[in-house]
Amino acid sequence: TLPKPLQGKKVLVTAGGTIERFDPVRYLTNDSSGKMGFAVAEAAREMGADVTVIAGRTSAVEPQGVHLIRVESAEQMLQAVLTEFDESDIVIKAAAVADYRPKITHHQKLKKTGGDELVLELERTTDILETIGKRKTDQVIVGFAAETDNVEGYALDKLKRKNCDFIVANDVSAEGAGFNGDTNIISIYNEQGLVERLPLMSKQAAAQRLLQIVAQ
Ligand code: PMT
Repeated sequence: TLPKPLQGKKVLVTAGGTIERFDPVRYLTNDSSGKMGFAVAEAAREMGADVTVIAGRTSAVEPQGVHLIRVESAEQMLQAVLTEFDESDIVIKAAAVADYRPKITHHQKLKKTGGDELVLELERTTDILETIGKRKTDQVIVGFAAETDNVEGYALDKLKRKNCDFIVANDVSAEGAGFNGDTNIISIYNEQGLVERLPLMSKQAAAQRLLQIVAQ
């Protein structure tokens, strides 16, 4: 039988992209498919954990044998994460959460106005990772960082600022890495710096290696 290093542990994973509506049928979102987060959830389950996944908009096949909670917006994801947080041992934030949302959500479908331009005003969302970083007692928090340049610099900055134990950086401009595809190229950092840089591999394999490191 396979070793189960996460037996008895509660693992909370976020996956997918958030949806920020500005009218009943229109919204802002991003390219996250949920593949990375779902792969992390399945790897944690394989290692014996009791897994809860909070997922936004996804196109990936849903993981089996986990508790799946569906949300739309960054605000709903925040509330769901806060509900689960105190009970969790490990929290892994693979979701792509909107940094901005429309300031006004119209209750009726927006009509075309006379002019050629429409200005959509945005406001900041709450940073979920930073919020739980402040609330942390003995949880292990793993953040992700999607960057296109100065990947290591920004990743280490996020780790410190958001009080994470690990940051998983992916250069989303690299071929075969980041949003939507079946593969990723990740580098795992802790407070001391680089822990491991993984070559291009399936999101499943990257998730398994990540969890082995976190389980240690
Ligand atoms: O879903 P896939 O198609 O498989 O793609 C995977 C992925 C590229 C989305 C994933 O690997 C990834 O990098 N996820 C994090 C994307 C992201 O939003 O990165 P960021 O650098 O903007 O945010 C850093 C961290 O803060 C993330 O852990 C994010 O979940 C968190 N965050 C961001 C904003 C916010 N309001 N609240 C947050 O908690």
